[in-house]
Amino acid sequence: MPKVLEVEHLAKRYGGFVAVEDVSFSVEEGEIFGILGPNGAGKTTTVECLQGLRKADGGEARVLGLDPLHDAEKLRRQIGSQLQESALPDRIKVWEALAFFGSLRAEGVDWHTIMEDWGLTPKRNTAFGNLSGGEQQRLFIALAVVNAPKLVFLDEMTTGLDPMARRVVWDLVRKLRDVGTTVVLVTHFMDEAESLCDRLAVIDDKRVVAIGTPDGLIAEYGGSAEVVFSADAADLDFLRDVEGVAKTERDGRRFTVHGDGALLAHVAAALVEHGIAPTDLRVKRASLEDVFLSITGGKA
Ligand SMILES: Nc1ncnc2c1ncn2[C@@H]1O[C@H](COP(=O)(O)OP(=O)(O)OP(=O)(O)O)[C@@H](O)[C@H]1O
Ligand SMILES: [Mg+2]
Repeated sequence: MPKVLEVEHLAKRYGGFVAVEDVSFSVEEGEIFGILGPNGAGKTTTVECLQGLRKADGGEARVLGLDPLHDAEKLRRQIGSQLQESALPDRIKVWEALAFFGSLRAEGVDWHTIMEDWGLTPKRNTAFGNLSGGEQQRLFIALAVVNAPKLVFLDEMTTGLDPMARRVVWDLVRKLRDVGTTVVLVTHFMDEAESLCDRLAVIDDKRVVAIGTPDGLIAEYGGSAEVVFSADAADLDFLRDVEGVAKTERDGRRFTVHGDGALLAHVAAALVEHGIAPTDLRVKRASLEDVFLSITGGKA
């Protein structure tokens, strides 16, 4: 897969304050790539440098094959951007903003379709200043994609959206990927990252501390697995000899088996072999949130 974005050892200071010290990652074409990290970790600074909105002090970045600073003008026509802190004139109407941003690229898409897709048609004649917070947010995302960008940056896109609107936005982001758009997404929502992102980078304290698929990160940092089930059987000592099992615990009818590897499969096979078929057999695994908290030292 061709790389749409490559960044190596990015560094950025604000005066004497180091905001980003060493950030490296790459994003492939058609990926939804997530950036997670505690407040102040350097996420927004990183994506702003990659969009040519801020000048990095060190490192190398190529975005769509371009240098974000030197080719800023060229790059801006090919990327879409929803900034964490966005603003529009209060009196501009929804349709005017969409028509204006849509006209910035010669072969721009039909902004009417974007307005419909992002649920803004009923508000087409409403002034920006009179939209609710969630409606403003939706408009910013719509504006980020109205020029049919190859790459779109979304910084906390679903902050302020109601649960239903978040799901709608997720589906639309998946549709962007389906048509080949690459998406870089900064988020604090672990469910969003897990459900939407193909790969994730965790930035903590100005550097990338982990990178991988959501499942890969959970497997790598999530600790050992636990298999739990209920059974009446008195003697389950045989489980201790099952592959991958480290320890078993019992609390009344409730059993917990600790271990690693393909624990669920091995425990299930052993139980069935001994004529025990619990209906509530399941594996408890760490969530992405557990993993995030353990990687970032609980500073979320
Ligand atoms: N213009 C600026 N001048 C000085 N310091 C800044 C400026 N912008 C950001 N910072 C500082 O740089 C650090 C990184 O900020 P950044 O906005 O990149 O964090 P973030 O990871 O996006 O955080 P959040 O999750 O809160 O959005 C913070 O300590 C912030 O206070
Ligand atoms: Mg930010």
